[in-house]
Amino acid sequence: MASVLRRLAVPATLIPLSVPVGLYAFAKLNPEKTTAYAKPVFLWLCAKLKTFHQERFCVLKEDVFSGLKKQDGRNLQVLEIGPGKGANFEYFPPRTSVIAVDPNIEFAQELEENSKQYPDVKVTKFVVAGAEDMSAVAEGSVDAVVCTLALCSVQDVDAVLGEVKRVLKPVIKVTTLTV
Ligand SMILES: C[S@@+](CC[C@H](N)C(=O)[O-])C[C@H]1O[C@@H](n2cnc3c(N)ncnc32)[C@H](O)[C@@H]1O
Repeated sequence: MASVLRRLAVPATLIPLSVPVGLYAFAKLNPEKTTAYAKPVFLWLCAKLKTFHQERFCVLKEDVFSGLKKQDGRNLQVLEIGPGKGANFEYFPPRTSVIAVDPNIEFAQELEENSKQYPDVKVTKFVVAGAEDMSAVAEGSVDAVVCTLALCSVQDVDAVLGEVKRVLKPVIKVTTLTV
């Protein structure tokens, strides 16, 4: 019995190990093909994550996005970084226009499809780029920037925050003078 187990030990270790090693070697040798395969896989994974996160974060999101709802009554221009399939659209107030910034073009169609559930939210532009460089979006042109579960994927968080500051409309400070 012990000798059978000993004989099985080597293949039992090597076979499961060969899968990640093989995938890693394939990715190293074929970076372009890997990106092509990885994008739809990532899309599928995000769809699964969306359901998982929506259930857990809905109370927090209601609270965080309530500031946007206060702007009801006028069109709201939102820029969303890495919107995926539009997990945040249900929290946007009526008459919201969305500029989506995502380097993964695979999301464009999914986002358009998903946004049909929210007829009051319109995706007006899909910028295929990393949020580190949003030069396709004009300076001081958006009311709010939304970003959930995406900053972990960006290469340079400081550059993204710099771009966020650039595209946001300047805040108009109202000062009351009492004489
Ligand atoms: C985990 S998904 C999150 C999707 C959605 N925001 C949510 O909360 O479910 C991460 C998203 O960030 C995008 N992303 C990755 N790197 C990015 C970058 N440098 N700039 C903008 N978006 C990026 C991905 O393509 C994807 O759409």
